[in-house]
Amino acid sequence: MEPTIAQREPIAVELEAGEDMFWCTCGRSANQPYCDGSHAGTDFRPRLYTAPETGTAYLCGCKHTKTPPLCDGSHNDLQGQGAEDAKEHPSIKSALGRERTGDIC
Ligand code: FES
Repeated sequence: MEPTIAQREPIAVELEAGEDMFWCTCGRSANQPYCDGSHAGTDFRPRLYTAPETGTAYLCGCKHTKTPPLCDGSHNDLQGQGAEDAKEHPSIKSALGRERTGDIC
């Protein structure tokens, strides 16, 4: 089962050193990049990440990174795969209007 592509760019978040967060691996969360429980009924589980330092982290929004939860630029290699995922998935439709930053990859 392929994850839903929540967005095709990283999501910038401010984290404190030692702060725990649960990164959404399924792409269905309406609170990207964090898990909101929308993975229920799938084989996906959230991934615990503990920030190693205080500062901005660029978390994967496409859910295809090979260095989870950090963006590795994999969104640039997605050839239309799941292009409509983010627009059509009901649980994340409302999150699409949120401001996105961190286009670093
Ligand atoms: S892993 Fe995506 S909502 Fe929990």
